Amino acid sequence: MAYAIETQQTYGVTAANFTGQDFLTISDFHSSEILYLLEKAVEIKAELKSGVRRKPLEGKVLAMIFDKASTRTRVSFEVGVVQLGGDPIFLSTKDIQLGRGESIEDTAKVLSGYVDGILIRTFDHQTIEQFAAHADVPVINGLTDLHHPTQVMADLLTILEHKGKLSGLKLGYVGDGYNNMTHSLLEGAAKVGMDIAVASPFGYEPDHWIRDHAKLVAKQNESSVVITNSPEEAIEGADVVVTDTWASMGMEEEAEKRLEIFKPYQVNAELCSKAKNDFIFLHCLPAYRGKEVTAEIIDGPHSVVFDEAENRLHVQKAIMEALMGGK
Ligand code: CP
Ligand code: NVA
Repeated sequence: MAYAIETQQTYGVTAANFTGQDFLTISDFHSSEILYLLEKAVEIKAELKSGVRRKPLEGKVLAMIFDKASTRTRVSFEVGVVQLGGDPIFLSTKDIQLGRGESIEDTAKVLSGYVDGILIRTFDHQTIEQFAAHADVPVINGLTDLHHPTQVMADLLTILEHKGKLSGLKLGYVGDGYNNMTHSLLEGAAKVGMDIAVASPFGYEPDHWIRDHAKLVAKQNESSVVITNSPEEAIEGADVVVTDTWASMGMEEEAEKRLEIFKPYQVNAELCSKAKNDFIFLHCLPAYRGKEVTAEIIDGPHSVVFDEAENRLHVQKAIMEALMGGK
C-alpha cells in the first residue's frame, strides 16, 4: 500500500530539527516533525527488510532506566540501538543508586558524562521532565503514568501501513481514559489530523489539560476530539479501534474494583459491529483477553497488534537516529 505522507507535509523538516532534543511527549513536536519521523520509520523498516545495514549510532551508547516491567520497550530499544551500530546499557532502578535515593539531578548529570542518550520508563511524569532538565543528552520517554509517546508513534506507523493515510480517519478508543496510552493517542491523533473519540466510564476520563490541548491542535488540523461515556459513540464508524488494559502498571490495587466498573467498556464483536467493516484493531499489549478485549477480536482478522508491536522497533530507530545521530 502507498503511504500518503506528502513531501509538502514535512517540508523544511530535516534531521537537524531533532539533534539533541528530548522525546517526552508527542506534543513536544510539530505535526510536520511527527510525519517526518514516520516517513523515516517507513524507510528504516524497508531498509532492514531489504538487508541494508547502516550504522549511524556507531560508538554511541543508550542508557535504559527501567522503574517498571517491560517486554516490548526494553527489547525493541535494545535491538534497535544495536541495529543502528550503538550499544545499550540496561539499568533497573532496583540496581542503581537512584533506587536508593540518589537525586534525579545528580543521576542525570553523571549519566550525561558517559552516554549519548537516556531512555526512561518510570511512574510520575515529572520525574522524566526533571531528568531531562538536568541531562545534557537526549532523554526518551519509554512510558510514564501520563504518556507513552513511542508506543503511539508505532501505532501511527501501523495505521499508516494498513490504511495508507492518517488524516481523515476516525480512531475510537474504549476503556481507561486516564492513562498513558489515551493521553498520547489524543496528542498523536490531533497532530496528524485524525478524528479521535475516547469512551471511558464516568470518573475515568482523560486529563483535562491534555484533552483541551488536543482539541486545539485537532482544530488546527481540521479533525475532532470527542470525549464520551458511550462506547457505541466512540466506535461508530471507526476505522481504527483501540483499547488498553483496565489497570495500568501502578494501579494493581484497583484492578479488582475496575473489573466491575469497566465491564460495559469491553471491546467485543458486538461493539465492533458499529465500526467500519474494514476497521483495524490496535492494542499496545500486554493484553488481558476476556477483560478489555475478547479473544475473538484480538486474535481475529481485524487485529494488527503484532505488526504494531514490531513497529516499535522501526519507529524508535527513526527517533533514536534523529535525536542521537547528529553529533
Ligand atoms: N507496549 C509496551 O510498552 O509493552 P511493554 O510494557 O512490554 O514494554
Ligand atoms: N497503560 C499500560 C501500558 C502498558 C504498555 C500501563 O501503563 O501499564
